[in-house]
Parts: sequence; structure tokens; C-alpha cells
Amino acid sequence: MTHDLNLTQARPSFVTHLECSMTGERYEADRLQGLSSVGRPLLVRYDLEGIRKSLTKETLAARPADMWRYREMLPVREASNIISLGEIATPLIPLPSSGGANVLAKDEGRLPTGSFKARGIAMAVSMAKALGVTRIAMPTNGNAGAALAAYASRAGIEAIVFCPEDTPDVNVREIAMQGARVYRVNGLIDDCGKIVGEGAKEGGWFDLSTLKEPYRIEGKKTMGLELAEQLGWQLPDVIFYPTGGGTGLIGMWKAFAELEAIGFIGPERPRMVAVQAEGCAPMVKAWAEGERHAERWENAHTVASGIRVPKAVGDFLILDAVRESGGFAMAVSDADLMQAVEDAASQDGLLLCPEGGATLAAYRQALRQGLVNENDQVVLFNCATGLKYPLSDRSGTLDRHGPIDFASL
Ligand SMILES: Cc1ncc(COP(=O)(O)O)c(C=O)c1O
Repeated sequence: MTHDLNLTQARPSFVTHLECSMTGERYEADRLQGLSSVGRPLLVRYDLEGIRKSLTKETLAARPADMWRYREMLPVREASNIISLGEIATPLIPLPSSGGANVLAKDEGRLPTGSFKARGIAMAVSMAKALGVTRIAMPTNGNAGAALAAYASRAGIEAIVFCPEDTPDVNVREIAMQGARVYRVNGLIDDCGKIVGEGAKEGGWFDLSTLKEPYRIEGKKTMGLELAEQLGWQLPDVIFYPTGGGTGLIGMWKAFAELEAIGFIGPERPRMVAVQAEGCAPMVKAWAEGERHAERWENAHTVASGIRVPKAVGDFLILDAVRESGGFAMAVSDADLMQAVEDAASQDGLLLCPEGGATLAAYRQALRQGLVNENDQVVLFNCATGLKYPLSDRSGTLDRHGPIDFASL
């Protein structure tokens, strides 16, 4: 007997085909695919009418609370291909002091390998396994590579990971510990991406870069499905999302459209806010200039390494979602995002990652600028555990052999 029926029970997936996100061109599902012929992401399409007829909110509620409970809306067809390390539903934690009375943090740091990358990578690796892949490579700012290493090892797939040389040390070590080969590259994530792309062209491996294969986004989509379900099928007023490649924001936007199509929610949508760092804000610039595509951001720098992404292949999908939702894109300074991390930890007991801190800093900035108000129900995405990042040492020392002045401790 298994403890988790989501991972073992036969259940249909309603995938019909894949579709180019730019041109709508149709592609076959159940075959290994990368980008579309115009070099843009492929999206998975489902028989939503079929799902509408076969899935109810009550059926869902009776299943174990992990991301696989949404299997009808996910691409993996056979339970035997699921690679799982325990992708639990993540909690919504109020931040009453550092945020406000209506502010919740979705704490993705509790997922396997300590970040939301587990959702996308679990899905992509499961599909890679289903489609016969034996070797995968990926560029990463740390967290995605850590997830790939873990899930690929679990699946018996070889993984090769390339990261910028200043990627947080714990990530680089974790990747190697979890069985992947990892290389520090003297460049940024898109420079690493070029190496992965060239190697894939030579037939060395399958390229699992953000949005360059169709399935990571389906895993990230579960953030939107889960959030809607947790809030009683009501969406919040505003979502603040730390945006690098943007998979999570695009995935959630897709989730909401699919939930509406199957009759689980109405047409209301949260305002989607793409949060970036001042030192790397290509989406913010493109949004402000009314552009649909973003230029590469030169000399990108920020302590929030997960959102140090100078160029995103899904830029137009991020910007379309932000605009359609009536949201906005906003950059915050490293000083403000680190202050937000400090405040959430010391006042509310939640250690955010710097990228999560960026969402709290952006919320505060938006409040000051009148872009949101205190009555708005707000969800901030904390995409990784703060424990994976360097922490400042504030400890004192104590000599146990000398006299101790207890009143001063
Ligand atoms: C902690 C953290 N937050 C946010 C992001 C950005 O995610 P996305 O690619 O969905 O924009 C990353 C990606 O590396 C990350 O590691």
C-alpha cells in the first residue's frame, strides 16, 4: 500500500497537443519537444471540456494534498513515470507585522530541495523520463540546478549543470551532492544557457532551460491551482511574484485561465505584479516603455540571484499577463529587499529568501505609491527557503569559565 494515491492511481491526463505561445502553431504531444519553430515556448493544451465533465472540487479535496492531485490538468499520463520527492502543498503564512493585515506569504521554501523549482523540475524530469531522455543539461542561478540534480538522480537520468561563478556556494555544493556534474562559468545565466544550447545541438544532452521545453511551466502552474484551492476558489486581489525567467507568473496565469474554463473560478483575476531588482530589471523597463519584448539587461547585478536573469525567452508572456491583469512591474533596491528579509524574520518569524524579500519590499513600495491599498488581499511568493543564502552573523561570545552577568544577556 502506498501513502499517496496521487502517485499510484491510474488517472487520465487530458493533454491534447502542444501549441506555440507566439503563433498558435500546433505540435504533437507525447514526443520530445523544445522551442517552437519561431524559437518561442510551447504550451501544453488540454481537453478542458473533458476535465470539466470529469473533475469536481469535491473529488480534488478528497485527494492527498500535493501537486499531483491535479493530475487531470498535468501532462504525465502514466503514474509509473512520476518522479516525486514529496511535493507538498505549501502554506500561506500571514505577515501581519512586516507586511500587513491582508498580506500572506506563500512559502515555497518547504518543497523538496528548498524551493519552488521542485514543482517545475519534478514535472519536466517525469516527462523526460516518460519520453526516454537519459541525459539532461541546464543553466541555473542555483535553485533550479539543485532541483534538477535531485530529481534526475531519482529518475536515473544523468544531469549536467552550469551556473554563474558567483552562485551561492550552498547551491553549487548541493547540486554536486545530489549527483549532478556542476560547472561554475565566468558569465551570467544566459551565458550558461548558450553552452547548454550548443551542447544540445551537438546531441550531447536534452536542454531543460526555463521555458525551452514545455513541461516545467506545467509544474509551476500548480502554484496557481493550489493557491486558488487554498483560498476557497477565490483568487487574491494582488500577487507579487519575483520574476526572473517568469515561469511561475506565466504558469499561474495559465492555471487561472484553465480553472475558469473548467468552471472552478469566474473571470476575476488578481493583479499580477512582476517584481525585479533595480540591478536587473528588463521586464520593468519593457513594461514602462510599453514594449512586448524586453532587451537584454547589461551588467546585471543583485543579491537576489534567482531573479538575476538578463534576458527571458518568455518575456512577452510575462508582460502580456501583467498587462491583461491590470498589474504592474516594479523594481526594488537590494537594500530594501534585504531590509524586508530582516523585518519578516525578526518581526514575523519567517526567514524569506532575498527574492521573497523583494516581493515584500515591492508591496511596501506599491503601498507608498498608492498602487495597492491596505485592504487588498495580497499574496507574496517566497520561492525558496532563506536558509540557502548567506546569513549575517549576529552572535555574541560567552566564556563559560568566567563570571556571567545574566542581567546583560
Ligand atoms: C528563489 C527564486 N525566486 C524567484 C526565481 C525566479 O523564478 P522565475 O524563473 O519563475 O521567474 C528564482 C529562479 O531561479 C528563484 O530561485
